Amino acid sequence: LIEAVGAREILDSRGNPTVEVEVLLDDGIVQRAAVPSGASTGAFEAYELRDGDKSRYGGKGVLKAVGAVIDELGPAIEGVEASEQRIVDEILIEVDGTENKSRVGANAILGVSLAVAKAAADSADLPLFRYLGGPNAHILPVPLFNVINGGEHADNGIDMQEFFLAPIGAETFSESLRWGTEVYHVLKGELKAAGFATGLGDEGGFAPDLPSNREGLDFLVKAIEKAGFTPGRDIALGLDVAATEFFDNGVYRLDQKDWTAAELTEYYVGLVNDYPIVTIEDALAEDDWDNWKALTDALGTKTQLVGDDLFVTNPTRLADGIKRGVANSLLVKVNQIGTLSETLDAVDMAHRAGYTAMLSHRSGETEDTTIADLVVATGAGQIKSGAPARSERVAKYNQLLRIEEELGDAATFIGRAAFPRFQG
Ligand code: PGA
Ligand code: ZN
Repeated sequence: LIEAVGAREILDSRGNPTVEVEVLLDDGIVQRAAVPSGASTGAFEAYELRDGDKSRYGGKGVLKAVGAVIDELGPAIEGVEASEQRIVDEILIEVDGTENKSRVGANAILGVSLAVAKAAADSADLPLFRYLGGPNAHILPVPLFNVINGGEHADNGIDMQEFFLAPIGAETFSESLRWGTEVYHVLKGELKAAGFATGLGDEGGFAPDLPSNREGLDFLVKAIEKAGFTPGRDIALGLDVAATEFFDNGVYRLDQKDWTAAELTEYYVGLVNDYPIVTIEDALAEDDWDNWKALTDALGTKTQLVGDDLFVTNPTRLADGIKRGVANSLLVKVNQIGTLSETLDAVDMAHRAGYTAMLSHRSGETEDTTIADLVVATGAGQIKSGAPARSERVAKYNQLLRIEEELGDAATFIGRAAFPRFQG
């Protein structure tokens, strides 16, 4: 039984306050969870409550959310069985009482929801991935390493937000981690040799001032080859365009040019022909549904098209997308929806519709590693947690190493099967 719930304000990887929650069970178990925070957030995400008190952290404090955990959410679930996750999450949603969790804040709710799950797992003496995924949870994901950062995550001129390495040809997760890391280090040398800065963006990738987005892909291909791998066979590429960020009034502004959605779609078709691209996320803006449909018709059989700002891990928006035949993959961010149960519902819905799902960190992260367990529990087979550098990013990959070790011979690295549409 849940005996007590506490909370505090801690810092995230960008030096902004965030919520940490601790749950105590009547058997003495204590577990904690911390909440991430985005920068290029979707308009339809659950609400992140910040104090707005300019005298503290420039208004970004989260003492109101912390107070809501202590005064309202905690007392409402005390005495409830910790393993009754759906009941707990329903109570949390009811206490808030709003559609988008804006009264007490999705950051308050998510912290409690995740901490309860961790405490219940610990109480059952099971690792979180097994507690949530059952005895058949055994799929280790392909990690998508965001090695070049642009958009809202870096102060360079690159419009696209994320350039991924996806080591699909490795035999094991640990091998894929090594491959990606080796290429990351070679990439640094290549950028330096070409006279570009190698400072890091928010997600641990390099943030060079490249003249065009294609140039980013060229650097990745060069680095993969120089590290001794074959692009496409061993290590594929991916993009998170985060197009909502450069969309205004029906016009996309990319590489110093104005583009219609149709022109941009043609451009993506060209990229997929020229590079081994397994995934493109948020290729168009979050409300550009008709053009998303046209994009999916043009490219959906050739590569994975992920909805992040488009779906915001929201089962209602995802159901709409499935009905319209828009995109073919769901990005999964626990704080976009705010409870573990709703997150798992979204993943289930995606899988039942033949969509893939990718677990994701936020650009503002903490040392919390819940998403590593979630990707194994759901068998989703894909995770993005930034570059293989910076501890808040690497913490998730390191947790996957521990899970791989725990599973031993039962572990299966999904490899290229994670991307059933990829034909490269
Ligand atoms: P965010 O970016 O965490 O800043 O929203 C991540 C993403 O767009 O996938
Ligand atoms: Zn995204």
